[in-house]
Amino acid sequence: MARVYLNKVGEHVNEEVEIRGWLYNKRSSGKIQFLIIRDGTDMIQGVVVKSEVKPQVFEAAKSLTQESSLIVKGVVRADERSMSGYELTVTDIEVLQIAEEYPITPKEHGVEYLMDRRHLWLRSQKQHAVMIVRNEVIKASREFFDQRDFVLIDAPILTPSACEGTSTLFETDYFDDKAYLSQSGQLYMEAAAMAFGKVYCFGPTFRAEKSKTRRHLMEFWMIEPEVAFNDIDDNMELQEEYVCYIIQRVLKHCRKELEILERDISKLEAIKTPFPRISYDEALDILKENDVEISWGEDLGGGDETIIASKFDRPVFVHRYPTEIKAFYMKPDPQRPEVVLGSDLLAPEGYGEIIGGGERISDPELLMQRIKEHKLPEEAYAWYIDLRKYGTVPHSGFGMGLERAVAWICGLPHLRESIPFARLINRIYP
Ligand code: 4AD
Ligand code: MG
Repeated sequence: MARVYLNKVGEHVNEEVEIRGWLYNKRSSGKIQFLIIRDGTDMIQGVVVKSEVKPQVFEAAKSLTQESSLIVKGVVRADERSMSGYELTVTDIEVLQIAEEYPITPKEHGVEYLMDRRHLWLRSQKQHAVMIVRNEVIKASREFFDQRDFVLIDAPILTPSACEGTSTLFETDYFDDKAYLSQSGQLYMEAAAMAFGKVYCFGPTFRAEKSKTRRHLMEFWMIEPEVAFNDIDDNMELQEEYVCYIIQRVLKHCRKELEILERDISKLEAIKTPFPRISYDEALDILKENDVEISWGEDLGGGDETIIASKFDRPVFVHRYPTEIKAFYMKPDPQRPEVVLGSDLLAPEGYGEIIGGGERISDPELLMQRIKEHKLPEEAYAWYIDLRKYGTVPHSGFGMGLERAVAWICGLPHLRESIPFARLINRIYP
């Protein structure tokens, strides 16, 4: 008898198959037990009819509790009324374990309660759907950059210096020295871009974010391409193509998941190139029209980003932020050195910045000056300055926060559900 995964039962209609999984839910009407069985790939309703199975099989079905593990045999039937399109006429049940009383029931639970049980919560239908979308975004990312001949170069996690400012560094002992968990692979991608032209990294990044917001994690995953000879405009073009590619892939392969998440698909279908581009100055004008006064030079907050993004039906680039509020490596606009050739991409529907990036300083003197102004330890950046001494070229790149993108695509209210095991200011368990 074929051992079959539930996402493939359609290939076995009217055949008897074996399925290994867990009991998700159960109802009964005396002479019939309806078992909802999940195996990680999908769910199916198994029907156990008292008059058609051995008494011990019916008794086994009755004894099953939520999340009991089992091996079920049965005949696959096509059934249009069911969620998966198939039903299983059960012929045999082998119980592996009768599960203890399961703490997560179909009733409502508080988020902290669920986060304490994240190791179990991942089995729930919505959480499962989010992880499948996340997996699809990762697959689409690799495919997008592969198709364009980018080389994947892994950046180190333990680093001697900061990329995104010293206030959010996680510090650790490194023998007799100090090391920091990487905030971004960017600086290493710049080295790699000079060796391979077009590169990207995809890995975990760390920020000791002292504020508690729905958009911040302490540990998150970032996709960071870097391209030699690209300017700020090339960089924005690459971003919009990339974001559209991901959205199209999820729309194509994750319909069922988006439905489970009750996502308004029309909002995602509207995402097309080109994305609007506005300057920081224009962003301030929009805020002013909405009675939000921000003086020039201040950074935009989450609420401000939401207002700006609400004016557009697709993600919007905000470019040329004040030099003073951006990272040390950003290239000043030669026309207007008080702003940099960088951009943030703001997602619609209140999801805020999903991508940050821009053109990097390519002049060794200016870079040195910035490192001093930012009071960064020069020795730790000597290698980075070297990149500007041996055939320096203009170059650009960006970083997309995977969880920000997944939260937006899935329509999640908080980033904590977009990563399998979230690290938050008050949480490192489980
Ligand atoms: O804007 P950020 O800080 O840019 C960089 O790290 C650049 N070095 C990237 C590059 O150019 N290669 O971060 C990039 C993105 C943000 O737009 C956001 O999506 C995400 O990373 N991000 C976070 N996501 C979750 N939790 C946090 N604490 C995040 N901080 C940044
Ligand atoms: Mg940013």
